[in-house]
Amino acid sequence: MARESLLQPLTIGSVTLANRIVMSPMTRGFSPGGAPNEAVANYYARRAAGGAGLIVTEGVGVDHPSALGDAGLGENDIPFMFGERSLSGWRSVVDAVHAAGGKIAPQLWHQGVMRIRGTGPSPDAPTIGPSGVWGPRGVTTLDVAKIPSDPVLGDPMTDEEIEDVVASFARAGRDAVSVGFDGVALHGGHGYLLDNFLWEGTNAREDRWGGDRRRRSEAVVAIVRGLRREIGDALPIIFRFSQWKQQDYKARLAQTPQELEEVLGPIADAGVDVFDASVRYFDTPAFPGSEMGLAGWAKKVTGKLSMTVGGVGINKDTGLANQKSNAPVADIRAVDNIDLVARRFERGEFDLVAVGRAMIGDAEWANKIFRNESPRAYDARHLAGLH
Ligand SMILES: Cc1cc2nc3c(=O)[nH]c(=O)nc-3n(C[C@H](O)[C@H](O)[C@H](O)COP(=O)(O)O)c2cc1C
Repeated sequence: MARESLLQPLTIGSVTLANRIVMSPMTRGFSPGGAPNEAVANYYARRAAGGAGLIVTEGVGVDHPSALGDAGLGENDIPFMFGERSLSGWRSVVDAVHAAGGKIAPQLWHQGVMRIRGTGPSPDAPTIGPSGVWGPRGVTTLDVAKIPSDPVLGDPMTDEEIEDVVASFARAGRDAVSVGFDGVALHGGHGYLLDNFLWEGTNAREDRWGGDRRRRSEAVVAIVRGLRREIGDALPIIFRFSQWKQQDYKARLAQTPQELEEVLGPIADAGVDVFDASVRYFDTPAFPGSEMGLAGWAKKVTGKLSMTVGGVGINKDTGLANQKSNAPVADIRAVDNIDLVARRFERGEFDLVAVGRAMIGDAEWANKIFRNESPRAYDARHLAGLH
């Protein structure tokens, strides 16, 4: 069976993952006051015990006042990576995952222009972006109430504000490692702050932070370098990026592999180990003229490791619709497409496979697919954290 190839371990720096299945980052909003509690520890420990080689946590707010709010999901209890209560909560999560034999990295998050003003732990903080704009509204399924009527949110970020954000990611990385995390993941996709720098729709700067693709990557480069200085060279850094934005599902950072190299090359050089290419379906060709998906191209143009995601083990991709209620529950079914994924893996297209909703549906998902058993199907109600 092709799927057995995914059981190979992978060593990244000082960390060895038992297999190639990764739990994809998924926001839940179940950390009261920003501090993960015992239920959160159990939730992740069950996925580690269930065979996931690595867990990437839900998005976790960095220590910057504009980082978090309601970003369209309505959650308030998004966890933080700062403050004694949150860090001791994370220490318990990490210990529980390690005790279950797993590895775990937090996904560090700044919502940028997606943060709804007046919400979150620092409601008075401004909502910020590189050019102070929300971006051109394209094909989106965001609730209209969550789309600002005036796309100008404020002034472009000052150099000092950019440096503050860079420093907040470095602190978050340092704190994550201090409580025992096995690496750090960065949310650089989906229309949030790092993506706001990468995308021309939200970055019209002409200074060192913008102007062309390579310069639009400069803020991410600074963040990755700052993180590396804090966490050293041994622990993995995973960088998630996406062509699509919540502002516009049809937006693209790169029309060609060459343009993708311009975006990702500098970020790779700054010290990222794994590119997590966020697409809705792993099988979708990234560019005309080749079957290869975005993770394959990320690997090819950077020479780094890459991770695929999207629709693994589930019949519906996250589509244009709201992730939580996109289809009647009955329409969502488990599907066994892991051999298809594994064949692409065997061709060397990518190194890791992230699994989102299917792993919410069944904490034992990885063990079951390797035993040829049928995992339990995903149901949006599983997000309530009962499992
Ligand atoms: C409820 C929910 C919350 C999500 N939250 C995040 C998040 O915090 N960070 C992120 O990078 N992606 C997030 N995603 C996207 C997933 O990580 C994943 O890329 C997507 O669900 C596609 O994978 P799947 O088809 O296996 O579910 C979320 C997805 C869902 C369904």
